[in-house]
Amino acid sequence: MLNKNILVIVTGGIAAYKMPEYIRRIKEQGAKVKVVMTSGAKAFITPLTLQAVSGEPVADDLLDPQAEAAMGHIEFAKWADLVVVAPASADTIAKIRAGLANDLATTLLLATPAPVAICPAMNQQMYANPATQENLNVLKQRGFNILGPASGEQACGDIGFGRMIEPADIVQNTLNFFIPKQQYFAGKSITITAGPTREALDPVRYISNHSSGKMGFAIAEAAIEAGASVNLIAGPVNLTHSEKINRIDVISAEQMHEAALTLSKSSDIFIACAAVADYRPANIAEQKLKKSDEDMTITMIKNPDIVKDVAALEKQRPFVVGFAAETQDVESYAQQKMQRKNLDMICANDVSIAGQGFNSDQNALKVYWQGGSKDLPLNGKNILAHDLLKLIHQQLNA
Ligand code: PMT
Repeated sequence: MLNKNILVIVTGGIAAYKMPEYIRRIKEQGAKVKVVMTSGAKAFITPLTLQAVSGEPVADDLLDPQAEAAMGHIEFAKWADLVVVAPASADTIAKIRAGLANDLATTLLLATPAPVAICPAMNQQMYANPATQENLNVLKQRGFNILGPASGEQACGDIGFGRMIEPADIVQNTLNFFIPKQQYFAGKSITITAGPTREALDPVRYISNHSSGKMGFAIAEAAIEAGASVNLIAGPVNLTHSEKINRIDVISAEQMHEAALTLSKSSDIFIACAAVADYRPANIAEQKLKKSDEDMTITMIKNPDIVKDVAALEKQRPFVVGFAAETQDVESYAQQKMQRKNLDMICANDVSIAGQGFNSDQNALKVYWQGGSKDLPLNGKNILAHDLLKLIHQQLNA
């Protein structure tokens, strides 16, 4: 981080009190930090505190002649190698999406050529609001890096997604921006399954699970950064992705099976991250099922095992990586799955622990392969995805 310039934009949110820790830690790594605050931010933390930890005067006024004389705002925007907006309020996120420039923070965000990382922090209902979700999706498509939010108890007492990710995670993500991206999978093709499958009961009902697709999408993005060409077979999820990914949308396990078997034959690596329904209703009612006074029994039949069938390919078999979502005896169940399905590697995650696994931005994996294992401790899914790909690369070349 030596000689890297980080512009930290602090907006109005209770998580602003965590920013001195981020600034201190990133400075320890050798970065130069300048801080800009919105007027809302100053209600939560004083400019003096951030000046003390950054060692630089804190800017907050677009029309301050003194500050403009020292470093004009366009020059300021150009100075940054990375802009970190943390905490990023719903209001600031909406302004960035709209391209407003009515204070110093938004003006700099519009003027900077540097990559921008946004750490959303707000009440869970505000985060879940379709307006905020749409704003974040648009920003993601424009190339902004959205880090978090995390889930948990909020300052207002609500529980859910909306907490700013921890300063240590922002530091880790900041460091990742500056790691030269090695194209160690250049020329390789990787097929990944992600998200849940839906097994229809009738035209309006289905059986599914809580997979959001975040883990599989993070692996797909990391694989693109590592230089691979990527097929992403996605169950029904509400996620966006970079244009370089070849995304194939499916609904049911049978559709995912067909796509996976076709694409894996021309792939070097197959990663089964999807939470596939093991069973599907034996019959799909043509019309909406009617309620009656009787209990209902649904006969379920087995779905094909996608990863097992890919691993059983005799010709054109890729290196096959499975996942194991467990709630108990994680290690032994995962290893049994690896043997039973003839996998080259399996990533076990304990989905009984709150804040990781299904529908979370974080996860922790224990990765097993024939003759070895490695713990990838709790981290953002985007970071874990890179760590996992590096492990796969090592094993392929072992
Ligand atoms: O999507 P997220 O919200 O980010 O959550 C990520 C995750 C928890 C879903 C992911 O990390 C994960 O654990 N995925 C696998 C979930 C799962 O279904 O595990 P399983 O133990 O039931 O299946 C074992 C392996 O067999 C998996 O690789 C699965 O993709 C595969 N499988 C299972 C059944 C089936 N019919 N076909 C399969 O290919």
